[in-house]
Amino acid sequence: MRTEYCGLVDTRFLGQTVTLYGWSHRRRDHGGVVFIDLRDREGLVQVVCDPDNAATFAVAETVRNEFVLKIVGRVRPRPEGTVNPNLVSGAIEVIADEIEVLNPSVTPPFLMDDDNLSENTRLTYRVLDLRRPAMQKNLRLRYRVAMLIRNYLDAQGFIDVETPMLTRSTPEGARDYLVPSRVHDGQFFALPQSPQLFKQLLMVAGFDRYYQITKCFRDEDLRADRQPEFTQIDLETSFLTENQIMDITEGMARHTFKESIGVDLGEFPRMSYQDAMYYYGSDKPDLRVTLKFTELTDLMKTEEFKVFRGAADMHNGRVVALRVPNGASLSRKEIDDYTQFVGIYGAKGLAYIKVNDKTKITNDESSGLQSPIVKFLSVNALNEIMARTEAQDGDIIFFGADKAKVVNEAIGALRIKIGHERGEANGYFVKEWRPLWVLDFPMFEYDEEDDRWTACHHPFTSPKDGHEDLMTSNPGACLAKAYDMVLNGWEIGGGSVRIHKADVQKKVFDALKITPEEAQNKFGFLLDNLQFGAPPHGGLAFGLDRLVTLMTGAESIRDVIAFPKTQRAQCLLTSAPNSVDDKQLRELHIKLRNPPQLAAAE
Ligand code: AMO
Ligand code: AMP
Repeated sequence: MRTEYCGLVDTRFLGQTVTLYGWSHRRRDHGGVVFIDLRDREGLVQVVCDPDNAATFAVAETVRNEFVLKIVGRVRPRPEGTVNPNLVSGAIEVIADEIEVLNPSVTPPFLMDDDNLSENTRLTYRVLDLRRPAMQKNLRLRYRVAMLIRNYLDAQGFIDVETPMLTRSTPEGARDYLVPSRVHDGQFFALPQSPQLFKQLLMVAGFDRYYQITKCFRDEDLRADRQPEFTQIDLETSFLTENQIMDITEGMARHTFKESIGVDLGEFPRMSYQDAMYYYGSDKPDLRVTLKFTELTDLMKTEEFKVFRGAADMHNGRVVALRVPNGASLSRKEIDDYTQFVGIYGAKGLAYIKVNDKTKITNDESSGLQSPIVKFLSVNALNEIMARTEAQDGDIIFFGADKAKVVNEAIGALRIKIGHERGEANGYFVKEWRPLWVLDFPMFEYDEEDDRWTACHHPFTSPKDGHEDLMTSNPGACLAKAYDMVLNGWEIGGGSVRIHKADVQKKVFDALKITPEEAQNKFGFLLDNLQFGAPPHGGLAFGLDRLVTLMTGAESIRDVIAFPKTQRAQCLLTSAPNSVDDKQLRELHIKLRNPPQLAAAE
């Protein structure tokens, strides 16, 4: 047995003989003396191998990086001047009496200290990558967070109930991962996109408070905050209102941040979806950036400038300004770069006004406003823009004019980008935690391509009290009892109060143009069971990966998942997905349309 983890040997052990196990992190030859930094999950300890102990020294000389060693030795103070205050073991070292190589290692493909590895290398050699202290720390924090959440929910009377992985398609709106059935020719299971329908059934079954920390599977375009399989902290309650569910889950988030990383999130502000879109163009605003949109749509309805007037006159158009304090010093090149950036989101340009002298608001040569567009705007409009944005000399004002969706996405993204790049120096970025609830989401959003209404959350979300009739008369105005928890611009959780009455559910399906047959076919098992005295119920699911990523400050959720997929939905460690034997396919009644050898030949 080890006496102590390498990284925890400290002055308590002075003068004692200790037994340690670990990996050789680094071996240094110092003119006759060999130093080995022995590493385990708790950190490093310095081992000294003296040539006086010939047998031990001979072994020490054969040791290379990542060899697995057993070391027995005496703990002594490090010589004056060599104490390392960054290590728990930094005041001591271990004089080796015995070194045993439990297993050598082939030369690792990279140095464990290398911070500039490509993600491909890291994911291919994930096991070695996981040995690195930063990854050990991330996964330990993840475990700690999960434990805190379990304890918190347990104390609140929640019960962990497992739900199936081989199931039917669930309604979260992404593509399903399918699993072919061997027993039932031509039939497929779907992996759950979430336990949504099962947790509702558990409420009908009377469990009252359910939770689960579980995998969900969604075949969707991947980004830094998305994985094809990810982990939800999923919960559901009976007989609670929106506010009560938000209180419980906010309490859980606050408790978890406090106990794991010592951060007090305070009380979460609550913002309507409408305000979030109006001021930030996003339903998950990053409130660390304090810049806000200024609405100009109404003002531009009477202006001649085609770019703005055209957008203002569209039924779904929008014109906004984004004032950036001290932005007048931006160079031509920087503005061009921002223009290109908003182009990614479909913006056709990025008009701007530099405020050089606001005592001279004219639209001619003498203007104190420097801009390619002032000559197209009336002096009245310019005055109004200055007043609404509260612009000061030295500011720049950017403009977005297009369909509201394009403006919100483009100027919303610009707001974040400028906020992160320039905000700290110019006072419009606060380096703090900024949680909030976004609520009063619309029930439906209009899908222009398909020319139909779709569910904003999922089709089991309850409309706001009094909004039931709007579902048929004015679907766009109908609000839902849905809420998202947002932190620093990331949606970390989302949920809703559900529909528990058949007649309301029918209206939703009608609005979504889901026929009774289709509804019965897809969700019959839920609808049937809702009829057996379903209690009012609602809940929420957190993205555990996102939560922990934010806590660690990592760039991507892949850094808090032991074995993640790449952006192209592959596992580089195991080379999954891969081709399978013909025999296996035959058993599953599957014939490939494009067999691998043909695909390769193409
Ligand atoms: P939703 O789809 O909003 O709600 O998911 C809940 C939370 O899960 C996280 N999340 C993801 N994390 C990583 N990769 C992904 N691909 C991914 N997709 C979602 C987000 C999100 O807030 N059944 C409902 C919940 C409910 O209504 O109770 C649901 O799944 O942090
Ligand atoms: P144009 O008349 O197309 O040369 O555009 C004049 C100015 O308006 C330029 O600075 C463009 O970058 C800007 N602009 C063009 N289209 C838009 C738009 N949809 N939203 C905001 N600015 C735009």
